[in-house]
Amino acid sequence: MTPIDVTREKQAAAQEAATLVSDGMTVGLGTGSTVAFLLPALADLHRNIRCIATSPQTESIARQVGLMVEPFRDVISLDIAIDGADQIAPDGWLIKGGGAAHTREKLVAISAQRFIVIADSTKTVNNLKGPVPVELLAFGLGSTLHRLGNVTLREGVPHSPDGGIIGDYHGRLDDPQSTAAWLSGTPGVVEHGLFPPEMVTTIIVGHTNGKVEQ
Ligand code: 5RP
Repeated sequence: MTPIDVTREKQAAAQEAATLVSDGMTVGLGTGSTVAFLLPALADLHRNIRCIATSPQTESIARQVGLMVEPFRDVISLDIAIDGADQIAPDGWLIKGGGAAHTREKLVAISAQRFIVIADSTKTVNNLKGPVPVELLAFGLGSTLHRLGNVTLREGVPHSPDGGIIGDYHGRLDDPQSTAAWLSGTPGVVEHGLFPPEMVTTIIVGHTNGKVEQ
């Protein structure tokens, strides 16, 4: 069997996603190594798009390749957002936030008319396995950690650009909907990395032969 070429798979998914964008669109840009392939592909194909970046890293690369990036402040709705994922379950639930950008990523995804997920084939799993990335408010951190129980803070990882503390929740994940609802309802949790299927329009998985599956 041909060994998996993760780089080629990410590139294939990113190239395909870039073709879903048209000139004149407002485009949300995710974060991570798969999105890093998307940015030059978008710049090659489209001269006239406005972009919103989900992290300073993405913003910097996007500007380097010539994309026009603007702040996410007065824009109400995006035409499309494209982002990677850490795990993709068969029912469409995602875990995101490996790169600690899940709060901004979720806000951009929910604001987009179409949210496209791009991934290599190793991201598709039979069952989601934790941990689930979380961003926590610094104020009251000890109390929030106590109430959540099973959270480790990421050592050496800077606060989010919005000042949040990044950690990982190691609790139950057999019912993602109830875990997501519980995390969302816990004061002090800014956001978590469980993305529901309703948020996702299309998942594009790249394969080592250069083809993609949607
Ligand atoms: C960052 C994310 C990324 O999209 C996720 O971690 C996938 O990254 P990569 O494309 O490098 O595998 O959620 O917060």
